Amino acid sequence: MKLTIIGTGYVGLVTGTCFAEVGHQVICVDNNEEKVKLLKSGGMPIYEPGLEELVKKNVEAGRLKFTSSTKEGVEESDVIFIAVPTPPQPDGSVDLSFIEGVSREIAAAMTSYKIVVDKSTVPVKTGEKVSETIKRYCKAKVDFDVVSNPEFLREGFAVDDFMKPDRVVIGVLSQRPVAAMREVYEPYNAPIIFTDINSAELIKHAANSFLALKISYINAVSVICEASGANVQEVANGMGMDIRIGRRFLDASLGFGGSCFPKDLSAFIQISEQLGYDFRLLKEVQRINSEQMDRFVKKITETLWVLKGKKIGVLGLAFKQNTDDVRMSPAIDLCLRLQKEGATLRVHDPKAMEKARSVLENVTYVDDMNEVAEGCDALIVATEWPQFKKLDLERVRKSLTHPIMFDGRNLFDAKEMEQLGFIYKSIGR
Ligand code: UGA
Repeated sequence: MKLTIIGTGYVGLVTGTCFAEVGHQVICVDNNEEKVKLLKSGGMPIYEPGLEELVKKNVEAGRLKFTSSTKEGVEESDVIFIAVPTPPQPDGSVDLSFIEGVSREIAAAMTSYKIVVDKSTVPVKTGEKVSETIKRYCKAKVDFDVVSNPEFLREGFAVDDFMKPDRVVIGVLSQRPVAAMREVYEPYNAPIIFTDINSAELIKHAANSFLALKISYINAVSVICEASGANVQEVANGMGMDIRIGRRFLDASLGFGGSCFPKDLSAFIQISEQLGYDFRLLKEVQRINSEQMDRFVKKITETLWVLKGKKIGVLGLAFKQNTDDVRMSPAIDLCLRLQKEGATLRVHDPKAMEKARSVLENVTYVDDMNEVAEGCDALIVATEWPQFKKLDLERVRKSLTHPIMFDGRNLFDAKEMEQLGFIYKSIGR
């Protein structure tokens, strides 16, 4: 099929590439000329495991191309996917101006029937607005259908998640776009759920909020574990074996972050309020999350006492493993708080140091993870990169002024760390 994806961020670029990978003819559109130039020349604006190779392969096969012209994208394809940002506004609601702008551009370029699919995370009832906008701005008065097709991929595992989805959710208002949407997703052999547009839009916000709730739940349990001498990982393992609960997203941490959960929680609370419901449960999820970070900082200050003049090593800056994304990263938040208290920082991340530089200044960026601890009063693990497990712990311990480690991701075994001579503090254990 001929498909156009508007927006080449994490979702758009992965979507376009993975559509091309299964044989569709794909055009990716972005209004950022620099980005399009970079992609055309074989460069990558983001780090996502496996993506670069897949882009290269599909560009060479002639199935994937890039342009900055929405007109070209709309003219050449039958199905147009919108994958532009929906950033948060200061009051927690969603800024839909990019969605509105792209809807107008699509309308202006349409000369024949098109299926316009929203992939961005949007508040319920946005599909209705997109439909009204296209109707208003379409000069040619051609037929079209608006479809909602929320994306569930995780950064760091995006290609895998896209190629092997648990389910594909498609919201429609009529039967007309159903066959084409089925054809788009047929190669993935995943269950496809057809529903109405409002339900599809809600599925996304409800799912992300539930996952955030799951993390806040285990983080709250981690507090009880610490107070009682239990081990949160043992508790999560035991709970997770109940298939009604499941083990995934039960890893206690210094809190969740990223460009999705914090934003989607605020948005869902706002949307619910507008619809007359005070979603206090989700407000509590937010509160637990910010308290989790407060508690972690307290743990550090209780041990090191005064942070002014202390040198601290930080492993991990990305909001999670396998990504270079530092948006709403708990690790960055932590660094800024430590800096504010007067600590000087030596930091390392396998992929996110370049992006971190614009939000985290006056720190020493260290290329080798084994050198971060040198001369430091303590070392912190802030992101769950698997390679941190391969740290040369003997060397790290010797290079620390005091062998103190705060593990915000429970990467290491507490007993082993103590045997190695560390004063080791983690979450809920
Ligand atoms: C999330 C959802 O998992 C995706 O399904 C969704 O498509 C995406 O948002 C989106 O809306 O675009 P993502 O933000 O990429 O994906 O990352 P997650 O793997 O969900 O992690 C989010 C945060 O939760 C990270 O800071 C991570 O470290 C933290 N986390 C995750 C925990 O603290 N504990 C866990 O057990 C799992």
